[in-house]
Amino acid sequence: MEAETVLRRIEGLPNRPIIGPVKGKHLVDAVKRFDVNTVLEVGTLIGYSAILIASNLPHEGRVVTVEVDPESARLAEANIREAGLTDKIEVHVGDALIVLPQINVTFDMIFLDAAKDKYLEYLKLSENKLSSGGVVFADNVKMYAHEMHDYLEYVRNSGRYTSEYIDVTTDGVEVSTKLF
Ligand SMILES: C[S@@+](CC[C@H](N)C(=O)[O-])C[C@H]1O[C@@H](n2cnc3c(N)ncnc32)[C@H](O)[C@@H]1O
Repeated sequence: MEAETVLRRIEGLPNRPIIGPVKGKHLVDAVKRFDVNTVLEVGTLIGYSAILIASNLPHEGRVVTVEVDPESARLAEANIREAGLTDKIEVHVGDALIVLPQINVTFDMIFLDAAKDKYLEYLKLSENKLSSGGVVFADNVKMYAHEMHDYLEYVRNSGRYTSEYIDVTTDGVEVSTKLF
């Protein structure tokens, strides 16, 4: 099945906290604007954003995604298979705080979308795998701003990133570029 068909079907499922088509468009824009090839995603759920990203990468592009909940990861694998993207997306099942240090690959983008109060921990565990000029895309930074003050302070004021907030009605995303 086409990735687009799988995405539309997932969008129609009730009560799934997926990034969705509106914020998803900003995610795809960032993938294209920064010429992204390799993506590390934290928080797979059932694979919506991984499929969205992978279907917008160049032919050789890859997504490595981490999900703590085995049942969600199983559904993600099934959706990825249905979308015909098994050779582009690798799902790791486990707590990102344990799995991230075990991944030894360089990425052009990190997409943060798991526990909102852990974004800074996820970033600290993975920023050594992010290329210079690479981009960190963080979801839910308006809705859950109260849980991620430390993260926003770090990407906006540490001097390691240039960071841009994009308001998307009731929520927002933060797009941060690694300077060195
Ligand atoms: C908002 S959902 C992700 C949505 C997905 N990125 C999308 O847009 O389709 C957050 C996911 O992060 C997972 N999660 C929460 N804490 C985690 C952790 N420490 N490690 C890995 N995954 C985690 C949850 O189980 C949940 O499936």
